[in-house]
Amino acid sequence: MDGPAKTAGLARYTADHHVPDLAHAALVHATVARGRITGLDTADAEAVGGVLAVLTHHNAPRMTPPAPVSALDLSTLAPGTTVDYLNTDRVHWNGQPVAVVVADSPDTARQAARLVRVTYEVEPAVTDFAAAQDDAVPLRGTLLVLGEERTGDAERALATAPVVVDHRYTTPAQSHHAMEPHATVAVWNGDRLTVHEGSQDVDWARRHLARRFGVPLAGVRVLSPHVGGGFGGKAPVWAGTVLTVLAARATGRAVRMVLSREDVIRTVGGRTPTVQRVALGAQRDGTLTALLHTGVSQVGRVGGTPEPVGSQSRHLYAAPHIWIRHSTTTLDVLPTAHMRAPGEAVGTFALESAVDELAVALGMDPVELRMRNEPDRDPLDGKRFSRRDLRAAYARGAERFGWAERTPSPRSMRDGHWLVGRGVATAFHLPVRLPADVTVRLRADGTVLVRCAFHEIGVGAATAQTQVAADALGVPVEAVTVEHGDTELPVGPQAGGSGQTASVATALLEACEELKRSVLALARRSPSSPLRGRRLSELRAGRGGLYRADAPDRGETYGVILTRAGRAEIEVRTAAGTRLGRTLQQARAAAGWFRDRRRWVRAVTGAHFCEVRVDEHTGEVRVSRWLGVFDVGRVVNPKTATSQLRGGIVMGIGAALSEETLVDPRTGRTVNPGLAEYHVPVQADLPRIEVDYLDEPDPTTPLGLLGVGEVGITGVAAAVANAVHHATGVRVRDLPVTLDRLL
Ligand code: MOS
Repeated sequence: MDGPAKTAGLARYTADHHVPDLAHAALVHATVARGRITGLDTADAEAVGGVLAVLTHHNAPRMTPPAPVSALDLSTLAPGTTVDYLNTDRVHWNGQPVAVVVADSPDTARQAARLVRVTYEVEPAVTDFAAAQDDAVPLRGTLLVLGEERTGDAERALATAPVVVDHRYTTPAQSHHAMEPHATVAVWNGDRLTVHEGSQDVDWARRHLARRFGVPLAGVRVLSPHVGGGFGGKAPVWAGTVLTVLAARATGRAVRMVLSREDVIRTVGGRTPTVQRVALGAQRDGTLTALLHTGVSQVGRVGGTPEPVGSQSRHLYAAPHIWIRHSTTTLDVLPTAHMRAPGEAVGTFALESAVDELAVALGMDPVELRMRNEPDRDPLDGKRFSRRDLRAAYARGAERFGWAERTPSPRSMRDGHWLVGRGVATAFHLPVRLPADVTVRLRADGTVLVRCAFHEIGVGAATAQTQVAADALGVPVEAVTVEHGDTELPVGPQAGGSGQTASVATALLEACEELKRSVLALARRSPSSPLRGRRLSELRAGRGGLYRADAPDRGETYGVILTRAGRAEIEVRTAAGTRLGRTLQQARAAAGWFRDRRRWVRAVTGAHFCEVRVDEHTGEVRVSRWLGVFDVGRVVNPKTATSQLRGGIVMGIGAALSEETLVDPRTGRTVNPGLAEYHVPVQADLPRIEVDYLDEPDPTTPLGLLGVGEVGITGVAAAVANAVHHATGVRVRDLPVTLDRLL
């Protein structure tokens, strides 16, 4: 639905918003990892023509500090960090904003920002993840956080297993590089605040800003109709947002700040580095007896989210003895944050590499090894999978990819100087479900308006909901308009955890049912209605109205019903209008989610098939073929779902081959804060990526929806590394697989 506006350049992203009297802001970043600001010389910056203000902790308006967050809190509602930007002289990471320049043009603001001189009293800082691993503390599990999990005695089973692989894997820190950099436009009108913001969670942004600036929630409006990619990086509220609002308040001007790539890398949390151990014990026939997966991730001292790298390891293989443990180490660095499939994206690299290593040790086909250990129930607690047909995904993938043509020995396939390798790996993700409030308005002219503050982060979210509404009400998609991305609308879910589409659709379906019931009640009042005396269950929605299932020509259009009843429109809302009503509704939804989690494992899975070509002289790795076959529940829209899954694979190929945030361990400073030195795949790095899916509804959810946003990236790095091993005989256990590791 958003395609025409985007291709015509009419869709407005945050940075496209121009308001009268607009000023522009730029950040000044700290250059030490930890300490105290002792001196600030802003005179040169202030002297630049066009500079309106240089804000520092000396002159910035006071804000309410962010609510304290536990470093162990996995809630995506975390404000990103507890740092009280520009209200403190303390520095907590190298890159923390310490000043903001406001000027009449973006270039002037940036130029002046470079002239701000800051001196520090430096304090000792812990910034080297590799050195800090030994201080890692095991996570205690909560309802939301995966802590330690065990069944049986995995260490003993491992000690007595006839075949064992036991290795250490590492993955580097990664930075968020959404196509659209973070941007904010802030406009104050008295105590009323309007913010344009590329956001995955406008409701959280609104609540956070109301708290920080001490203004009534009702007066804060956050608009985010189009977002150029999020991946988790636009779910919390980061410095750029808060400081743009602060700059607008301090100067009395509307202010826009568009972060540079460097600003994003220094102020928006990315993915933690990890070190992981995976040990597998098996019988000689490939039956797994022991599975151990432990991992260390990092958080910042002022915020961050640990990565549950063993998430998939408790669900994927039918081993009788399993032990999973997550530990966290705390550093003086930018808080880590969620990035597409936190946990599984890097956890599957270790697990699915180890499974491949076991296949090699057993002399067994890696697909066959996986299928031999496919569980009927959750291996840890015996829960049922709501649906799971990984066997079908592998069977279809093997057929389509031509897996049988692979010769098993490493270095056995080549094409001239290219060593050819093929690898597989399993994808796994647990989509979340969140409450959503939706209104649906049906007008006498047959058009429908759906309103919900969900987020269009580039996934076709509005398209999917248009389809759901059109289908439920039996109207053409052209008759449906969906409004989203605005806190004036009923509260929607965060675009995160692969849960937005299913969460909104659940509420939307409920609203459409209610709407049809109300329309039928109107019809039944009329003696002339062919629907008189009928129940909704006897009717079908279609052709713009309600018709009898047993006599499809008996019925009438919504227009006829509404017009006869003298109604221009009819509207229903899923949530109670009161705050208390909404709170109760959310509590019910949360309780339902936990109840479901106790009953079922609702997971999406997939099978990746990858072919690489490795130059035998230079070690250059080219991904030459890709096929992913996924079991994701029902697919609402094949075009957008395929695009999501393909995008995940692209991101996974970046993680496999090039992405790496490089931090100078002496200073904690990121030394590759831009796309010139932080390499993401471009078209020339990618083959045509084939995506297929089973498209079978999940029997436990409305419409059978699960979620597709994150599963695509999981398993990808392992599939690449496994293919590289097959091509070269070299096993790379440390991402990214750069050519120096192959020479
Ligand atoms: Mo995501 S990492 O659930 O935005």
